[in-house]
Amino acid sequence: MTLGREKVCFLNTPTPLEQLKTVSRELGIRFYMKRDDLTNYGTGGNKLRKLEYFVKDAQDHGATMLLTVGGAQTNHGRLTAAIAARYGFRSAIVAVDPYPGEISANLLLDGIMGCQVYLVRKDGRTPDSQLLQDAVARVTKEWEEKGEKVYFIPMGGSDELGALGYYDCALELDAQIREQGITNPHIIVTVGSMGTYMGLAAAIANEHLNMKLTGIGIMPYRDITGHALDYYERLRKTYGLEAVLRREDFHINTDFDYGAYNNPVEDVRKAIYYMGRREGIILDPCYTGKTFNAVKKLAERSELSKEDSYIMIHTGGIPGIYTKHHRSEMEVELMNYMHII
Ligand SMILES: Cc1ncc(COP(=O)(O)O)c(C=O)c1O
Repeated sequence: MTLGREKVCFLNTPTPLEQLKTVSRELGIRFYMKRDDLTNYGTGGNKLRKLEYFVKDAQDHGATMLLTVGGAQTNHGRLTAAIAARYGFRSAIVAVDPYPGEISANLLLDGIMGCQVYLVRKDGRTPDSQLLQDAVARVTKEWEEKGEKVYFIPMGGSDELGALGYYDCALELDAQIREQGITNPHIIVTVGSMGTYMGLAAAIANEHLNMKLTGIGIMPYRDITGHALDYYERLRKTYGLEAVLRREDFHINTDFDYGAYNNPVEDVRKAIYYMGRREGIILDPCYTGKTFNAVKKLAERSELSKEDSYIMIHTGGIPGIYTKHHRSEMEVELMNYMHII
């Protein structure tokens, strides 16, 4: 129970927290990774912590089907499909995206887990948000006419309920930090739809946890700290939180978003290869690769403190490396590792 809300506990927590020795030595910082990519369903990732709360709420509402939205390659959708399968719900994903020409990566996993995927065609006039809303209404109606009770989970699971997953994670981290004697912890996390960052930020402020938090933006936002403040205010009102935060309290670096969501970026691929070749840890091209690229570049520019212990949360997303537009770039770059003898 967190802030008065219950969850279904299905996660293999605490997830490992380990120092990455080679990366630490080479970058000249103390660098740790919290392995939320190693969570236990649907190949893992951050959304599972949020889904512990959504599943409980769906069960309490007597739902029989989980429906969520995102891009065609949504990690959140894939993990919703996994937990739906585990708890006996049907599942569906609605995305305003073209068919990518192949069923690979998350789409492949969605199908394996029995999730219905609806890709909405653009008509050149209607805004995406309207298309999405209309399609969700249509798909919900269709399934409810077949006798299902549909429970809707918002984009990325980033609402007041979903944020509790990373509120819990901050408390878990705090216990691990004490146990391992880590000094001046500084958490680094990707900011997408922001539920992960916000859960951590809310817990740090309201549970008086001794840790700094920096978010790394991976896509352009019109006003990212304004969005953070609005989101936090919603949490504060919903749960009666004590801490009052201002815009300046949200530290989110937007210098490494490379201008778009989920775009192939050479620097990011280099960061992925760097991590893979030193630690055997796979990062993804959309979220964690961009985030680690930011850490690496900041360290190389001596913009990170020697005093802090940086803890990057690995939020998963690994199926993303198998999508066509990322995979094809990597196939070219990695060809010289292929030997036919
Ligand atoms: C792998 C991965 N990392 C990070 C994020 C960002 O989390 P949030 O949307 O809560 O900001 C996502 C969101 O989809 C994700 O799939």
